Amino acid sequence: MDRKRFVIIMAAGSGTRMGAQLPKQFIELEGKAILQRTIETFVEASPGISVVTVLPEAHMGYWKNYCLKHNFTCPQILVKGGITRFHSVRNALEKVPEGAVVAVHDGVRPLISSSLVASLFEKAAAVPALIPVIPCVDTMKMLEEKDGELVTMAGKTVDRSYLYGAQTPQIFHSEILKDAYRQAYDTAFTDDASVVEKYGKNLSYAIGERFNIKITTQDDLKLAEAIMSLSEK
Ligand code: C5P
Repeated sequence: MDRKRFVIIMAAGSGTRMGAQLPKQFIELEGKAILQRTIETFVEASPGISVVTVLPEAHMGYWKNYCLKHNFTCPQILVKGGITRFHSVRNALEKVPEGAVVAVHDGVRPLISSSLVASLFEKAAAVPALIPVIPCVDTMKMLEEKDGELVTMAGKTVDRSYLYGAQTPQIFHSEILKDAYRQAYDTAFTDDASVVEKYGKNLSYAIGERFNIKITTQDDLKLAEAIMSLSEK
């Protein structure tokens, strides 16, 4: 039998790097909140999916009002975020049963296509952990800061042909993700794949999308606007 689909939309960050008052997930892109765009893409890709939205405690009322005011009626299970992304995912997983398939997606990645979401869910039916990645096109340097200057780390050369950037949604069979998130927190946990890998499970990979950017800075917001204007032509 097919596993029931869930998506956890991570939107509990405070967005301090954007330098704005309102966390970036609530900023509007062409008249619609980034978070609404993100949720709508998952519902379009997988109608009937259960949506768990993780929010900063201080903005839960704001988001409820925004949805009412904008007639955004998609059912959402709202969950309070934690101190780090790891703790936010852990809170959300309490709302996800075993035997389901669960995608964890950054709320600030609204430009993912619904066709990629649909194809990732199809692939994830056959593997317990599926991670979208894109090949690294830049030459990467491992540097450290010494006395305010960037210097080369001795002995650290990186072969670009092995490097890929991990994106979201990362999709898992829910019992594996729930078990992995029972581990103690480690600062090396920067995404869900790193948590599941430390738990000892194999990861599978699929190619993601170059435009599936994480909107983190004001420049990213401009880039997102530019990408959206391309697809409207
Ligand atoms: O901070 P970072 O850029 O890694 O955040 C990635 C995603 O995780 C964002 O969508 C952010 O809202 C979310 N997040 C969260 N809870 C936190 C920190 C970040 O849901 N405590």
